Amino acid sequence: MNLTSEISLRRFTTMDLEKVMEINKTCLPENYNTYFFLEIFKNCPEGFFVAEANSIIIGYIMCRLESGFSDFSRIKPVRKGHVVSIAINPNYRRTGIARALMLSAMSSLTSYGSSEAFCEVRVTNEPALALYKKLGFSIRKRISRYYYDGEDAFLMARPLLS
Ligand SMILES: CC(C)(COP(=O)(O)OP(=O)(O)OC[C@H]1O[C@@H](n2cnc3c(N)ncnc32)[C@H](O)[C@@H]1OP(=O)(O)O)[C@@H](O)C(=O)NCCC(=O)NCCS
Repeated sequence: MNLTSEISLRRFTTMDLEKVMEINKTCLPENYNTYFFLEIFKNCPEGFFVAEANSIIIGYIMCRLESGFSDFSRIKPVRKGHVVSIAINPNYRRTGIARALMLSAMSSLTSYGSSEAFCEVRVTNEPALALYKKLGFSIRKRISRYYYDGEDAFLMARPLLS
């Protein structure tokens, strides 16, 4: 998908791993080893995208397919798409790249049969909270001390249209 003449989205390939890990380390305190990224890719290959500017990777999103109780109706087991990580190079923020990555990922999650998407977000992460709210996610619960440094998370979710 072309966002501008300079920026485009495409599916992740294992050749992108090093660059994606570098962006992850620059942008987030939650960092993972190679095995983790590859397991996520194996679980949900079509929910893992990169954004490129002039063929240089400047952002990514990766998702995992899960099943469990709905975040909207506690009695119903559903297939859910978990947005595990998303990050954009700081030089390219506020240009709609994360929004485009989220929309692409949610479309893939829907085609995998997920009826909901969810993610965790630090309670102080205003940009991410604003992004998810703008995309129709709502806060479903607060998870105490979710992060290794003791910060709480909001679990945010939205239904996906089939
Ligand atoms: C959160 C993040 C992914 C947003 O990426 P982005 O490409 O800048 O976001 P977009 O340009 O697509 O923004 C879409 C909407 O999200 C909201 N938003 C994004 N950044 C925002 C900010 N800094 N302040 C307020 N709202 C913001 C706005 O509603 C924005 O729409 P608008 O620009 O029309 O007002 C980016 O800031 C980032 O990489 N942060 C570090 C990693 C991180 O926190 N990841 C999420 C972990 S849960």
